[in-house]
Amino acid sequence: MRRVRIAVLCSGGGSNFQAVLDGCQDGRINGEIVALIYNRKNAYAARRAREAGIGAHYINKLRCGSAAAFTQALLSQLKACRAELIVLAGWLEILGEELIRAYPNQMINIHPALIPSFCGKGFYGRYVHEAALAYGVKISGCTVHFVSPVADDGPIILQRAVEVLPGDTPDTLAARILPYEHQALAEAVMLFCQGRLRVEGRMVSVMEQEKEEEK
Ligand code: GRF
Repeated sequence: MRRVRIAVLCSGGGSNFQAVLDGCQDGRINGEIVALIYNRKNAYAARRAREAGIGAHYINKLRCGSAAAFTQALLSQLKACRAELIVLAGWLEILGEELIRAYPNQMINIHPALIPSFCGKGFYGRYVHEAALAYGVKISGCTVHFVSPVADDGPIILQRAVEVLPGDTPDTLAARILPYEHQALAEAVMLFCQGRLRVEGRMVSVMEQEKEEEK
């Protein structure tokens, strides 16, 4: 089966990007990362990409001068690398509706909470865990979902529950959830690349893997 062409968007360290990259390199994921796009100069994700021989493209909204120019710069890069799946892996910038609509059910995001809790505007990184702890939840976790024009609102692909422990701080909770993000994101990308995700309205179902002889 031909490998799916994947573009990854990162703003920070890129450990989720690394999880997808590792999956592609060890064969678990039938995909090839054809580009990394990052919007912060010092994003370590860019170094991870370069070390893996993957083109890293700096596209920053302020540098583009407007939201429209930013959208066009992203669109042209994604078209240039013929991306078939866009993965937002620790991406901290609003994407324009034109861009999202250009990739219907072909753009996925990892969020470090159980959507619909602690998501949407202002809920990113440690703010998510601060809010979860302040609310007193006993279970948090992470969510992989398709991207829709409303932040963190697209159909949910996978979730992982993670226990909140007494004395947790935002940092200790974030650290406990992060490995589950890596596992869930890699699994969702694997399923996408196997063509096993079916979306009907808000519902995402995972189809059985075709047996070899059926292909
Ligand atoms: C992760 O919790 C991710 O969900 C959030 O930032 C943290 C670090 O992500 N957006 P990464 O190491 O940059 O993938």
